[in-house]
Parts: sequence; structure tokens; C-alpha cells
Amino acid sequence: MRQAPSINAGMPPVWKMSLMAVLVLCFAVQTVLVYTDRPSAVRLEGEALRGASLYQQHNCQSCHQIYGFGGFLGPDLTNVAKMYGPRGLRSRLDYALGSGPGQMPIIDVPPEDIDALTAWLVAMDETGTGQARIERPDNLRIAQKLDWSRVPWWEYP
Ligand code: HEC
Repeated sequence: MRQAPSINAGMPPVWKMSLMAVLVLCFAVQTVLVYTDRPSAVRLEGEALRGASLYQQHNCQSCHQIYGFGGFLGPDLTNVAKMYGPRGLRSRLDYALGSGPGQMPIIDVPPEDIDALTAWLVAMDETGTGQARIERPDNLRIAQKLDWSRVPWWEYP
């Protein structure tokens, strides 16, 4: 004898529907969280924003990294501001751009652009810690001349 079709014939079982409902709810909550998430506390505006676009215009990222992203010829700049302090960084930039130390080219920028680049790097520093880096400039200089293949890993700075 054929069984009469049950009311929910063709419908997935309740547990599947509940699971689906939970997933849909999670998705909805996640979506709300993503779209209401406040951006990082540091807002790039004014000088810092101008510095960011100068950084791109002059292609600094082809050699330098921010949070490890960028070229690897020069050092990561995420936290250079902390390393030198804002004023120290300004003069370091002035020196680096004006004299092209090591493999960095001379990049001719007016003083107000150096101010903007400094403001941008100071703002970047405030967003967090980029990556482990060699803290002292003299170490940096030594490190660049070292043949790393001959340095055992436990002696890395
Ligand atoms: C062709 C690659 C290259 C480009 C392009 C470049 N740099 Fe550099 N930069 C370097 C190298 C290499 C060093 C390390 C120099 C040394 O030996 O002291 C350096 C050093 C620096 C330093 C000092 C970092 C420290 O830890 O003391 C700053 C700041 C800096 N660059 C900023 C910039 C900015 C801003 C730009 C873009 C306007 C830029 N650089 C473009 C290669 C580059």
C-alpha cells in the first residue's frame, strides 16, 4: 500500500533547515559587523594624506615596505617614526632623499613634501607595529654589509 505523502514532502529535514537558518543568521550578523566596523583609529587626512600620495608618486614602495608589503631593497618604513621620533625622521628623510645613501637614489622633493612624507610615516607608525626590524641605524648599516649566509640564525639581531 502506498503511503500518503507527508506534509513536508520534498522539504529538507528540520535539522537541515535549522542549520541553514543558523548559517544565514551568522552571515547576516557578520555582514552587519563588517559594514559597521570602524576603520582604524588613525585617519589619514591633510598632510599625512598628501604624504601617502607622494609616497606613491615617487614609487617609494618599489624599494620600501609598509607592513611588509613593497619592494625589499630598502628597509620597512612602518615604524621608522618611532625609531627616530618625528623630528629625527624628518631630518633622516631630508638626508636620505637629498643624498641617496646606499642604494637609495637621490629624490628631489621640496621641503614641504618632506614634511608631508614625515606626517604620513608618523601616521603609519600610529596604526601598529609592522614587523621586527633592526632598531639602531648603525646596526642597520652593519647588517647591510654582512654576509648573512655566514651568520648563524641565533646571532640574527
Ligand atoms: C631604489 C630604491 C629606493 C627608493 C625608490 C626609495 N628608497 Fe628609501 N632607501 C633605500 C635604501 C636601499 C635605503 C637604505 C640606505 C642606507 O644604506 O642607509 C633607504 C633608506 C631610506 C630611509 C631611512 C630608513 C632608516 O631606517 O634609516 C628613509 C626614511 C627612506 N629611505 C625613505 C624613502 C622615501 C620616502 C622614498 C620615496 C620618496 C624612498 N625612500 C625611495 C632605497 C630606496
